[in-house]
Amino acid sequence: MSIAPRIPSLLLNEDINLPTPSIIYDVAAIKHVIQSLLNDIRVIPEATLLYSVKANRNPTILRLLADMGLGVDVASIEELQAVKKAGFEIIHATSPSFSADEIKMLREAGIFPDFNSLSQLELARIELGSLEEVGLRVKFPLLLSEEEGETTFGEGSRFGINLFEPSIKSYLIKHQIEVKQIHIHLGEMRNVHVMEQVMKSIAKLVKIYPSIESINLGGGLTYLYSDQDEAKNVWKMVATYMEDIQCTLGRSIKLMVEPGMLLMAMCGYLLSSVRSSDWGNDSRNVTLDASAWNLMYWSYPVLVKAYTQNVEEEIHTLYGNTCYEKDIFIQSSINPRLETGDRVLLAPAGAYVTSMARNMHGFPVPMEFILVDDEIYKTGDDYANHSKIQTLPYQ
Ligand SMILES: Cc1ncc(COP(=O)(O)O)c(C=O)c1O
Repeated sequence: MSIAPRIPSLLLNEDINLPTPSIIYDVAAIKHVIQSLLNDIRVIPEATLLYSVKANRNPTILRLLADMGLGVDVASIEELQAVKKAGFEIIHATSPSFSADEIKMLREAGIFPDFNSLSQLELARIELGSLEEVGLRVKFPLLLSEEEGETTFGEGSRFGINLFEPSIKSYLIKHQIEVKQIHIHLGEMRNVHVMEQVMKSIAKLVKIYPSIESINLGGGLTYLYSDQDEAKNVWKMVATYMEDIQCTLGRSIKLMVEPGMLLMAMCGYLLSSVRSSDWGNDSRNVTLDASAWNLMYWSYPVLVKAYTQNVEEEIHTLYGNTCYEKDIFIQSSINPRLETGDRVLLAPAGAYVTSMARNMHGFPVPMEFILVDDEIYKTGDDYANHSKIQTLPYQ
């Protein structure tokens, strides 16, 4: 079973009657991606799936994921409030920049953040009075090819503490702090070569810090899943390491993964209208009513559907609606000729779009909708209370 969700036929078959720009999340796709990943990680003993809220904090999406029983990782008090409202029970937290008040707030909510740096740990120790058990975000050296080094970061990452450094061990001993959880997110875990080095370092760390009870492997699984066989091999290898680690410790140890992009990116679509269409030097320059610069800074969008009466194909460049020269959704797209008033569906728009939208020119973030069983609903504060809207074909 491929983790890539199918494009919903409702969106492929007709231009639905929604205002533009809009973002549409496909609930079936979200369920499919989550189920596929859960099936894959089942080979690992004690593995659980968390969702990294930074990818998308739409309240309706959060409520859906909470109803599916997922846990979450948050990186701010704002994200914490959103997941509490959505009803999540398993909440983890890591951020490079918690304030003393925020650390106290997290602890009062029963959450033990994974500290990113020695200074954050020291802040917590002083502010909380005592700190006997902690979670730490960790980093370690990785031997990476030039290509791997573009998306994966080893000890050079600005996040995390290198627990192999003797001074860190001395600090923890001096203050009688036990490491209960380690949290690794070093960018894209893109293949067996990268993940095996991570697992080797973890195996060494649990020998040095035998108090570790749980391991969070972070996110960064999107690139890996461009090759599903490689992904399966990664989980098989992780399972072997985890079995060895449990054998060494003589007890079970929890493992978590917390992707954001992989779970949500492919489940969201941007519906946008053509505002201008003119033949340029060597391609048709089309300007949409949404901005790639504002919305799709981290995505490489593709044209899923051109809603137009035209059938003859032309080469297009799809631009965003800001005055920024490089506000480009897609360059050299060959598709039916788009004219002013036509509409397009672009993907992926489910992750790191609304959650990190910019607002150049004051353009608002698009309205968000969910697609459930061929019906479209406006997302709201609550999944249960989402309001149904009409889905007549667009005129
Ligand atoms: C600690 C942590 N966990 C998980 C993620 C999610 O990564 P992705 O969306 O690539 O899966 C991030 C992304 O920055 C992160 O910093």
